[in-house]
Amino acid sequence: MCGITACVGRDDVVDVLLGGLENLEYRGYDSSGIATQSAESVAVVKREGGIEELATSLDAIEPTGHVGIGHTRWSTHGAPTDANAHPHTDCEDRVAVVHNGIIENYADLREELAAAGHEFTSETDTEVVPHLVADALDSGLSPDAAFRAAIDRLEGSYALAMVVAGEDAIYASRDGSPLVVGVGDDRQYLASDVPSFLEHTSEVVYLEDDDVVRVTADGHDVTKIDGTPVDRPVESVDWQPEDAERNGFDHYMLKEIHEQPAALERAINGRVTADGNVKLEEFPRGSFEDVEDVMFVACGTSYHASMYARQMLAARGVSAQVYSAGEFATTPSPVDENTLVVAVTQSGETADTLASVRLAQERGARTLAVTNVVGSTAARKCDDALFIRAGPEIGVAATKTFSSQVAVLTLLAERLVEDVTGSPSEERADVLRALERLPSDVQQILDQSSVESLAARNRDRDGHFFIGRGVAYPVALEGALKFKEITYEHAEGFAAGELKHGPLALVTPDTPVFAVFSGDHDEKTLNNVEEVQTRGAPVVGIGSEESTAVAETVDEFIPIPDTHPLVSGVLANVQLQLVAYHVADLLGRSIDKPRNLAKSVTVE
Ligand code: M6R
Repeated sequence: MCGITACVGRDDVVDVLLGGLENLEYRGYDSSGIATQSAESVAVVKREGGIEELATSLDAIEPTGHVGIGHTRWSTHGAPTDANAHPHTDCEDRVAVVHNGIIENYADLREELAAAGHEFTSETDTEVVPHLVADALDSGLSPDAAFRAAIDRLEGSYALAMVVAGEDAIYASRDGSPLVVGVGDDRQYLASDVPSFLEHTSEVVYLEDDDVVRVTADGHDVTKIDGTPVDRPVESVDWQPEDAERNGFDHYMLKEIHEQPAALERAINGRVTADGNVKLEEFPRGSFEDVEDVMFVACGTSYHASMYARQMLAARGVSAQVYSAGEFATTPSPVDENTLVVAVTQSGETADTLASVRLAQERGARTLAVTNVVGSTAARKCDDALFIRAGPEIGVAATKTFSSQVAVLTLLAERLVEDVTGSPSEERADVLRALERLPSDVQQILDQSSVESLAARNRDRDGHFFIGRGVAYPVALEGALKFKEITYEHAEGFAAGELKHGPLALVTPDTPVFAVFSGDHDEKTLNNVEEVQTRGAPVVGIGSEESTAVAETVDEFIPIPDTHPLVSGVLANVQLQLVAYHVADLLGRSIDKPRNLAKSVTVE
């Protein structure tokens, strides 16, 4: 949560900092600020609200500087106010700091610093850091040593960046929250995430926990906290700057929904052979023959993609479970060296998922990250990584990454089934053929979908329920998540068979039910449809264009191209993404930055 950006060059960097923050706004958007340094002091401009509020203040104040840090916040400690916005400074404005994460021992540190005469102006945990650095500077330490002395006192998780008056450098360190250096010619960059500076450079250096980096206009030095030099490689990212732009769409979410055919092509490309076999370069046949149990750990949309994958494995004889990562990190299930723990995470930075990975590794399990971000913490910490290649996703609502996750997990499932059971699944050829058709099937939906008018009829209801069974169950959950996340309307997803065990009490003529049909066990779901229709609820069915039984039973029908049942959920999900998008648009919601949320949740 929260986005850090920083830049050091030979000319003014204020516009670069502002641009860097705009590119990171998806990480938090309740307040923002920048700090630049001069020989005598640091100058801070910060405001409650979105980046546009900050931009207005910058226009009025016109700060300058060739070294600076910036921050866009998603509040944890302290309400989103001007005072609580980052950067934070010491009493004499010599030090300014931006922070992502949570400093768990801040209350003790604050008490100690206050007793020593430091005055605090915010309610944040972060503010202890500039005061700690100032204390160390006062004791005669250099800025470099003072920064190390301060972070040595911190407990919790952090990515921190600091500027100090009179120092033409940025100091930064991480422990549990991401930081990446952008290597330029005349300017160097630092950020929580590559899109922040992607328009300037695609050469990056990913920092590891406990690294301390000093960035100047000429380059960067990475050391451990005790000063030991470390060599972190410069890597090239293959994302293009325009991948992180809206390109004429009203919202990133709509753009990313429309990018799904291309994203799916990339996810599958080169991973299916001409004779219908799975070809995962990282995992040749036999890679998983020691695996006895598969456990997925994930959050939110990635959790739903994991549920989808669990269905594929369990149905074909591979023992598989799915855990909400926050729960697994609290109460882990027993694992051993024959357990494969698969961390499914778009960002690769979700704190709960990373905590689960740590626990699984400590207990001896093998770990695999399925992620979108090369260089992410999950990719680097897990024993292996499999990339979904969806390209940058900026909208807070995950869309194209769900489709790409399911596509890649389908390939992984086929590899696992063959390795674990000793023979390929009977349906493999059909599933892979359907997977290869998926990009054009999704394109067909995007070209023909007419859910906009349906959205207009469903924008103002008491509640919205989503049901499905088999792979349609995680799609129902995902449909409800997307709907509530961006429309702020009440929406819940249920296993179709579960309705009559309680939720049916909520069903009325003013609670539309979206029923997802995968093509497997549809007749049972149709029984559930009739149960809700009997209570007066209008039913919107999403299913194969060839399913006349479904089309004739439901009140409104949203067709999807006919395909293999295991793949059909991706298509139904695209229609549900569009329903949620259009309802949110009609309601005038902040679609790309829904209230209270942020793209990457780096606190537990
Ligand atoms: O980056 P991750 O996939 O680990 O993120 C997990 C969730 O925070 C994320 O999927 C969230 O639920 C989405 N915003 C939902 O659209």
